[in-house]
Amino acid sequence: MKTKIIPFVFLISCFTLAQNVKITILESEAKDTISKHIYGHFAEHLGRCIYDGIYVGEENKVIPNTNGVRNDIIKALKELQIPNLRWPGGCFADIYHWKDAIGPKEDRKHIENLSWGNIRENNAFGTHEFLDLCEQLGAEPYLAVNMNSGTVQEAMEWEQYVNNENGASSLTDLRAKNGRDKPWKVKYWGIGNESWDCGGHMTADYYVNLYKRYATAMTSYSNTEKLYRIAVGPGTDDYEWTETVMKNIPARRIEGLSVHHYSVFDWSSKGSSFEFSDNEYYKTMKRAWFMEEFITKNSEIMDKYDPEKNVGLIVDEWGGWYETIPSGGGQLYQQNTIRDAMIAGLSLNVFNNHADRVHMANLAQTVNVLQAVILTKDEKMILTPTYHVMNMYKVHQDALLLPTTIENNPDYNGIAAISVSASKSENGTKHISLVNIDLIKSHDITIDIDDISNVSAQILTSKKVQDHNTFENPESIKPINFKDFKVKNGKITVKVPPISVIVFKGK
Ligand code: AHR
Repeated sequence: MKTKIIPFVFLISCFTLAQNVKITILESEAKDTISKHIYGHFAEHLGRCIYDGIYVGEENKVIPNTNGVRNDIIKALKELQIPNLRWPGGCFADIYHWKDAIGPKEDRKHIENLSWGNIRENNAFGTHEFLDLCEQLGAEPYLAVNMNSGTVQEAMEWEQYVNNENGASSLTDLRAKNGRDKPWKVKYWGIGNESWDCGGHMTADYYVNLYKRYATAMTSYSNTEKLYRIAVGPGTDDYEWTETVMKNIPARRIEGLSVHHYSVFDWSSKGSSFEFSDNEYYKTMKRAWFMEEFITKNSEIMDKYDPEKNVGLIVDEWGGWYETIPSGGGQLYQQNTIRDAMIAGLSLNVFNNHADRVHMANLAQTVNVLQAVILTKDEKMILTPTYHVMNMYKVHQDALLLPTTIENNPDYNGIAAISVSASKSENGTKHISLVNIDLIKSHDITIDIDDISNVSAQILTSKKVQDHNTFENPESIKPINFKDFKVKNGKITVKVPPISVIVFKGK
């Protein structure tokens, strides 16, 4: 009898061992800080992001607002500790002329938004309104200059208008006349946007030469160190572009390289944002995981030219992109489901784990456009599953990255099911964010971490991956406390449910 039972038990335990996922947190190897700017956002003049989204106008008596900006949005973004906001585009930046949108509102030139639906815009939301909003939010502004239909002079003057001391020139006199004495001191400047596409269909060589003109003119010898100039990088696996930019722009003229990656499985048929098949979900996750390869390969090229890692990799557009819902009332309006929570959790783990090179990232976009954290309809507002992931993960902002390894990461149709990142904040609190993208299976995980106690956790999940919040039921998806784990001898053991994001906290 015995000889028969022992091999059976042995087999069972081997099977269990092979299935158990082991995460090890290597605190002794920690050296990099996760920049808070990885948790940045992007607001473009597109669809209902700015007009009838963030900005409803000063004269709006129905929706409570401050200088025309919705109070509920300000409160929700402050809660996220939004570190920066990129504006005015995107493609829109390349048709935007900042001087059209300053001074008395009734005198501002109306423009046709040629990038997004030829909508007439009255320019009521311009430089002052945007920079004042950033001040209210406590967020750093990130301005994108018009490189395609604008001029070097125009970009240079924008920088002088917003950054130079009172009395410096007629430009700062004009700023004061328009109600602002003090400069805003804008540090982050994007020079061009997707210059290989909507930003002018340029070759990399042409872009580099043009970039150098902007980057030189926008800075004087005395203020170079104040600006963080971000050059255009690729939005696909065109690593030649990265090579050309990194090789040819002198180190003293570049602080960041922007890359874009959307988790789209088919650009010609992007699928519904809330009625999608298991296969479409899987294909989206595959594209989301591409972020790891995309960052790794761009970083390898950057390492060749910038081994000290002074130039930041700036992922200033990322997220899911599906077919527009026409009833949303604006271009690129889409719903936001648990699938988007998976994209967010996974992508933010990737960014955290590359904190040595990724210095900033901007989710596309903030309100009513693409993978928005907030959706609005008249006076109503929804916080999306993506909002909740951002909120759960904000604990990683400016914390020390704790490197992690994963053994036996379960296979989900050829891609990894589990993603993780961990950090330690200044007060010694440790956070571990775990994502299980598996649609069906829970996974047993052991997290090996030196010295942790008082562990608590929150989870964001739902029964179906298509589940989302609606204006009728805005709180059906939100984080809840999670207690289904054990802590013993520096090990957390947990069964992570399918399609879930969990953040552990302990000291
Ligand atoms: O985020 C929407 C658009 O996607 C941006 O305007 C552009 O930069 C990108 O192609």
